Amino acid sequence: MTLEAIRYRRGQLDILDQLLLPSQSVYISVSDTKDAWDAIKKMQVRGAPAIAIVGCLSLAVELIDTDFTNTDDVASYVASKLQYLVSARPTAVNMKEAADRYTSLVKKITLENSASVESVKKRMVEEFEQMFKDDVATNKAMGSYGADHILSKYKNKPVSILTHCNTGSLATAGYGTALGVIRKLHEMEKLSHAFCTETRPYNQGARLTAYELVYEKIPSTLVCDSMVSMVMKEKNVSAVVVGADRVVRNGDTANKIGTYQIAICAQYHNIPFYVACPTTTFDSNLATGKDIVIEERPHSEMTHVKGVQIAAEGINCFNPAFDVTPADLITGGIITEHGVFPADKIYVELKSRSILG
Ligand code: MRU
Repeated sequence: MTLEAIRYRRGQLDILDQLLLPSQSVYISVSDTKDAWDAIKKMQVRGAPAIAIVGCLSLAVELIDTDFTNTDDVASYVASKLQYLVSARPTAVNMKEAADRYTSLVKKITLENSASVESVKKRMVEEFEQMFKDDVATNKAMGSYGADHILSKYKNKPVSILTHCNTGSLATAGYGTALGVIRKLHEMEKLSHAFCTETRPYNQGARLTAYELVYEKIPSTLVCDSMVSMVMKEKNVSAVVVGADRVVRNGDTANKIGTYQIAICAQYHNIPFYVACPTTTFDSNLATGKDIVIEERPHSEMTHVKGVQIAAEGINCFNPAFDVTPADLITGGIITEHGVFPADKIYVELKSRSILG
């Protein structure tokens, strides 16, 4: 059985509370967009694709029980609820991409001759459900492209991969992005070992990725973030594969804090560094990584662990949730559901295939 972070059937959405993992598996009900906003903000659900999926499915649940006087009311309601969901964690762009796409769609649907309040509501619910279904197929495609690309660099011999943060079933509808590449290599019997970092301060690696790796019986080792360069020097790391929260036009990529320093270490050790993300993580509106606004999280995430203070009382803290890795450090390429592309050419490549507008 695979891990399920999101359980959905029409009218009912439940999510695995990721604050309680790995010690407890508890599902909580998300009955409307307010519940989803709170769960995203508190990080009961996290990971760029999962944030967007839970946001949109919460709106699907809410729409079913909401009455409207006309189709324009449905369209403005959908648009404002989607914008509200974007505000919960704005650096991860997938929710914003979904908000823009579905806002245009709902406006278009209301202009159809046969549009009624019920038909517009039903169509939007179906669209949100389809997004959830499509995510696993997208992740599996990334897994195959990424695994093949990495293996081609090593004459098809087994490889060992280092990853950061959590990008697996818990961060997506299932299978995962960077962790999907690791999963695929394991399925192919081409994974000699996976290394996952703790990912301080929130410990997504120690709590969530380690949990997924153990759950899937993938040969793996947990390392502290501060051990990465030593592990690269001594443990034969073949490639680094991480996820992304936002990729901009020049290929610069925002991902979990600590990614940038791992990319620097990988370049020093001549280890290919890959980013794996669906094309919904692209932000064509921004030219370079300098334009990405980085979310800052509460200092208590650094000073306390499970409510116990571990840092000296009164110390100043800086707690950015993400950092930006420049495109030139993404030496392996960006793995998408359409193939693997050089980071600095990703925008041109995806635009030339009409995948990005
Ligand atoms: O703060 P988080 O846990 O939401 O950060 C998650 C990451 O940075 C992931 O690498 C990214 O969202 C990709 S998840 C498939």
